[in-house]
Amino acid sequence: MVDLIIDDKDVTVEEGATILEAARSAGIDIPTLCYHERLSPIGSCRMCVVEIEGFPHPMTACTTPVTEGIKVTTNSERLVRMRKETLKLILVNHPLDCPVCDKGGECTLQDLVHDFEIDSGGYQIEKVDWEPVYSTPLIRYWPDRCIMCLRCVTACREIKGLGAIDIGGSGFGARIAVVDKDKCESCGECINVCPTGALTENLSRLKGRPWMVERVMTTCTYCGCGCQLEINVLDGKIIGITTKDDVGINKGSLCVKGRFGYEFIESEERLTRPLIKKDGKFHEASWNEALNLVAENFSTIKASHGADAIAGLSSARCTNEENYLMQKFMRAVIGTNNIDHCARL
Ligand code: FES
Repeated sequence: MVDLIIDDKDVTVEEGATILEAARSAGIDIPTLCYHERLSPIGSCRMCVVEIEGFPHPMTACTTPVTEGIKVTTNSERLVRMRKETLKLILVNHPLDCPVCDKGGECTLQDLVHDFEIDSGGYQIEKVDWEPVYSTPLIRYWPDRCIMCLRCVTACREIKGLGAIDIGGSGFGARIAVVDKDKCESCGECINVCPTGALTENLSRLKGRPWMVERVMTTCTYCGCGCQLEINVLDGKIIGITTKDDVGINKGSLCVKGRFGYEFIESEERLTRPLIKKDGKFHEASWNEALNLVAENFSTIKASHGADAIAGLSSARCTNEENYLMQKFMRAVIGTNNIDHCARL
């Protein structure tokens, strides 16, 4: 264990912890922007600078490991001034289009600018028209809003193990670019970790502001993994899916289906009533008609060929209870052990 002092408070943490982790364990808040708990420290934004006694220059708390006996200051006048300058420099290149940005109201940059009471950018440069080089039908990249924190690049590599995106270009012209198009799964992990509105989804653009939606936590039904997600509901309709980094086995991650596959619910083409095929064409029927037909056919097959002529295939998209009922139905009602599940296919 390592003992250190942060803002006059004695703190003990395990060896290898960073100053940021030590501070957070003691309830001391250090502002961050590029840091994300699920990612290796990136150290690109410099919002988390702290002073360490005996060192002339501030250090980034998210990348600096603790050492025995150090005395850390997290909130001096000098540090606040430096953090304000950092934010102003980020704003040089960031459009103040918060009213039309999907991330407005849940943007880390917006919150920090507010917390540090920055009321003007301070620095001016000629406006650059960026070409969005990284976008998919589901993901939209806004290069002008990108603060190059590199969370998206790190998440793509470390959480998804894909490495589809990286820095393209250099210096002032550097932006996020696709380096291996075939590897992008449109899973939206990059959107999930983006602290600004630089990555947004194409499906639910401006359908509702974060504070207008009701977020209902539920289990994804696309497979048997049981990922936790929040359905964003506005006026009784699903307008998006979000996740919480500390909830469920998925810890905020989803696949492309879980994050974006919700539009079928309101689709005009969705089947909402049973269809019975007559003379080669489907006709709408009542549930009673449909169930009676299925029951009759099962009875006929069973009477003529035996119960083992029938098999049931259940689905990972069903709940445990539904799957239990399915096997019970096949065994106890139909009378066969021919029951299987799509997860084994
Ligand atoms: Fe530490 Fe960005 S949060 S450098």
